[in-house]
Parts: sequence; C-alpha cells; structure tokens
Amino acid sequence: MKFDLEKAAGMRTPFYLYDLELLDRTLTELQAAAGDAHVHYAVKANGNPRLLSVIARAGLGADCVSGGEVQAAVDAGFDPASICYAGVGKTDDEIRLAIRAGIGCFNVESREELALLAEIAEDEGRPAAVALRANPDIDAHTHHYITTGLEENKFGIDLSQLDAAVDFAAASPWLVLRGLHFHIGSQITTMAPFEILCERIGIICRKYRSRGIEFKTVNVGGGLGIDYDRPEANPVAPFDDFFGTLRRGLRLEPGQELHCELGRSVVGQCGSLVTRVLFVKEGVGRKFLIIDGGMNDLLRPALYGARHNIVNLSAGADRPMAAYDVVGPICESADVFGKDERLPEARRGDFIALQSAGAYGESMASCYNMRPPAPAVFI
Ligand code: LLP
Repeated sequence: MKFDLEKAAGMRTPFYLYDLELLDRTLTELQAAAGDAHVHYAVKANGNPRLLSVIARAGLGADCVSGGEVQAAVDAGFDPASICYAGVGKTDDEIRLAIRAGIGCFNVESREELALLAEIAEDEGRPAAVALRANPDIDAHTHHYITTGLEENKFGIDLSQLDAAVDFAAASPWLVLRGLHFHIGSQITTMAPFEILCERIGIICRKYRSRGIEFKTVNVGGGLGIDYDRPEANPVAPFDDFFGTLRRGLRLEPGQELHCELGRSVVGQCGSLVTRVLFVKEGVGRKFLIIDGGMNDLLRPALYGARHNIVNLSAGADRPMAAYDVVGPICESADVFGKDERLPEARRGDFIALQSAGAYGESMASCYNMRPPAPAVFI
C-alpha cells in the first residue's frame, strides 16, 4: 500500500487512509464490466462525503437505507433519480424526505410498508416508484450476520406473499410498480449463489409474464466479495465475473434493466486504518502488540471474526519475524485484530495498517470509550 512515513510522522493516529487513485481505477474497471447495467453504490459501506462525491461524479447511482443516507447522497451530487432506498424499517419522516427529494425507487420490504408508502405518496401528491424486495430463500454461504436472503431473515417479502404485494402495488394510483429487488448477502466470493439467484429470478419473472406483468427493472442487490487475505495481489474485485454471471443467468428481455447495489467491492480495498504501536507487551507465552486503533474504529473483527491483513509500515526487510496477538486499547476482550500474527518485529511508535478497511470501517465506527472519531486522510 502507498504510505509516506515522513509525511505521516507528525500525524495523530489512528486515521483512515484512502487511496483515491485505487478508487478511480476500481470505478473505471467496474463501469467497463457493468456496461449498460445500472450500478447503485451502497452508501452504507462508506458514507464519507469526499468518497461519495468521487463516486457520484463517476456517474454511479446510490443505494440508501436511511433518510440520512438519502440526504448525504443528494448532498454529494448523486442524481436523485438514480437513488434507490431499501430498509425494513423506514419511518414516515424518512419516506416523506425521500419522496420530496425525488428519488428513483423505493425498494419495499413488506406489504405493510407498501400501504404506508401509498398513503404518504397520496398525501404528498407525488406517486412513488417501487421495486418489491423478494426474499428468494438462498443461502449465500457467508457469515450468518451478513446473509440476508434466507426465509428466516427479516428482509424482503416472502415469495408466498409476493402475489398480494404485486396486486396491491399494481392497483394503487399512488404507486408505480417498476420491478423486483433482491439481495442475498455480502462478501460472497464464489459465483454459485448469484447463479442460483438468477435462476430464481427467471422463474419469478416468467410466472408474472404469463399473467401479463412485466418488470422493467431487476435489481440483484450487492454482495460481491473482495480479497481480504491478499489485497495487494487483488486490489480490484472480479467485476467481469460478476456481471458475466448475471448477464448469462438472467437473460433479460429487451427493455428490461439490470440494476445492482455494490458497496464493499467499490470502496473496500481503497481504505486502510493506520494505527501506531503503543506497547509491545510481554504476556505469558505470548506477545501482545497493543495498537492505538480499536474495535470502535474498525468493528468487523470483533463483530464477525473478520480478518484484515495487518502490515507494519515502519519495518524494513532487516527485522526478524515474530508472532503477536494484535489488540486494541478498548476495554473489551473482543478488541482483537489478529491472533498469532507473524509480523516483522515491532517497536513502540511503528505504524501498523489494517488493510481492506474502506468498506464498513469508518461507517460502522463508534465513540465507545469516549474515543474521538478517526479522521479520514486522502492520497
Ligand atoms: N443492498 C442491500 C439491500 C444490502 O443490504 C447491502 C448490504 C448491499 C446492497 C451492499 O452489499 P455489499 O456489496 O457491500 O456486500 N457490515 C457487514 C456488511 C453488511 C452488509 C449489509 N448489506 C460487514 O462489514 O461485512
């Protein structure tokens, strides 16, 4: 990763370091692979205003899950018509805000929400475009906290209830039924779950086509994974594979639009959390590398047992290797970034980077233990 030790010497740590060149390259490769597919950036992955404006300028749409995200997307320059808004628990105020902002599509997650949306749209005097989020009951084989397309999950409308939702939307003068929406999970690293999703979507579309209902948009959600183990070798996600799989699997009708909502694969690799070594603590039978970044700055390891590649940016090739448990300063035993990590021998003050932290890093940070937010720095 790119890092200027001299420039960083006077900086307060921890901070998020974003490589805008890599973000640009990622966006270029993404758009080449996407072709005429509509890509909505999942703002939840990272809502940093500077990153949002780069992504908006590249011409992507936005995928939001709260009124705050809708507002941030509009402020960053995303075309409101390119914004879709998902979420199982939208409030009345959030729905109103999104209607007034003129967003392109509500991804609706229940019949109850559909009824409320029709009511508010009527009150606002502006019909709302909707895609129905169907729960396809597919196991994405990813961490159980981030699999979303199973029957047991709270997300989406069960296929057995989809008919009623379609009928309601089609009959309402205040709803414009544009399409279907899916999302089966996140950090999916093989194409098989997407292939199964395409098959299910084909079955659903054919069923409704035979009843004279054609969905203009098919939104497959996000979920494309990144390489957390080898970020230097694979800095850009396999976008060609992803879109190739979707095109082959979906075989959309002329005029039908493919939409997707990618978050992690857009921003994951361009960000690192840069920390400093506070102490090298000799424990019993192990050494602790205590760094000044904690689970409040980067929650993924504590919450999901996720592993981010750890590098000592201060160490040259001359230092011997040693094994460390890399831990943060937070008063929680879960505040661990790696056990038995083999790293060049570390010293107090060394810069330690946790890589691939551009997605769900800054956006999931908290001020637990009254720690100030880690600032963002751009190269
Ligand atoms: N669309 C919907 C409806 C979603 O729920 C999500 C992510 C996305 C798109 C974007 O998925 P992506 O392309 O980023 O995989 N905090 C977790 C990930 C949670 C994902 C939630 N939904 C993590 O750090 O791994």
